[in-house]
Amino acid sequence: MFESLTAAPPDAILGLTDAFKKDPSPEKINLGVGVYKDASGMTPILDCVKQAERRLIESESSKAYLAIDGNPDYARHVSALLFADQVDAARLATVQTPGGTGALRVAGEFIKQMFPSSRIWCSRPTWVNHPHVFAAAGLDVREYAYFDADTNSLDFEAMLSDLRRVPAGDVVLLHGCCHNPTGVDPTPEQWEALGKTLAARQALPLVDIAYQGLAVGLEEDAAGLRSLLDANEELLVCSSFSKNFGLYRERVGALVVLGKTGDAARTVLTQLKRIVRGNYSNPPSHGAGIVTTVLDDAELTSCWRRELAQMRDRINGMRKLFVERLKAAGIDRDFSYIQRQRGMFSFLGLNREHVEQLRDEFSIYIVGSGRINVAGITADNVDRLSQAIAAVL
Ligand code: LMR
Repeated sequence: MFESLTAAPPDAILGLTDAFKKDPSPEKINLGVGVYKDASGMTPILDCVKQAERRLIESESSKAYLAIDGNPDYARHVSALLFADQVDAARLATVQTPGGTGALRVAGEFIKQMFPSSRIWCSRPTWVNHPHVFAAAGLDVREYAYFDADTNSLDFEAMLSDLRRVPAGDVVLLHGCCHNPTGVDPTPEQWEALGKTLAARQALPLVDIAYQGLAVGLEEDAAGLRSLLDANEELLVCSSFSKNFGLYRERVGALVVLGKTGDAARTVLTQLKRIVRGNYSNPPSHGAGIVTTVLDDAELTSCWRRELAQMRDRINGMRKLFVERLKAAGIDRDFSYIQRQRGMFSFLGLNREHVEQLRDEFSIYIVGSGRINVAGITADNVDRLSQAIAAVL
């Protein structure tokens, strides 16, 4: 049976890591996958994580299955980070998922199975895996305008105008902060307008928040999501601890559904559990155990907040340095917008040929859309990177 199969193309993001590993160049630079790197180019394990793991190893007494929806203490911490105390916990249905991607897939299946005629609307552009995950769940994926490549900013008028045409009952995906791939987020006023527009259209917001704490701060980065609560009584949130805890390979995320009432939330939870059981049965424990151990402990929590601030500050420092070095490399273009973009990613306006030339001639790996992982820039590679960009431009 397998003889007749054709090969699938490599993944647009994770496939780059494979290609990077095979590249023999000693000067190669990987700015593809969205993974934080420190000043020496390493992806460290946070100190708070190491400490929590030691405690877990000492205290864990069983490897029996978790509940289908995961650990309730973890769920409590997830909703506190997302909503502070702005919603009644009884209105929330939360499932611990294998990463933010797992949350998106469960959300996709929930939408498809409960509301078969609902479509999902994603920003143009969005994370390349969004359409893939939602299509795999059987959803019809549509796009709304988002980024204006001429001004390197949000085309808010075009975005609103597209969203005003979304039919009632459709789902609109918003990036909670640090828009992937552009790094361009709505302002607080724009979030407010988005909330009102979606409520007026009777569209359901789905907020993917995978980078909380990497733009400005934990509270500030949740402000857009929280402002949706003013006008919307129901929403879905997919969150992830891959980036802000550096727990990429532990696969730890959550799907949180806000219902109008506690009864509605309880019913939703039964459906989510049914969907999870038919997929991965119940979630892995270790990553969520780490997060819960850290957030249960005041000292570990302060340590985490400090380490998160260090990651954020380093990324913002690299944005500044990158702009300076691009200028020093002699490119006659205003790159100051790179400093206004938030989170790990930056869109420089590089086209596919530029991306290929950077890879083939300079061993610099970035995503085909021209997305650069700013968190992979270091004081050691920034000059080579800037000069290579100057050469291809
Ligand atoms: C990214 O956008 O690079 C990350 O979210 C990692 C991934 O799974 O694609």
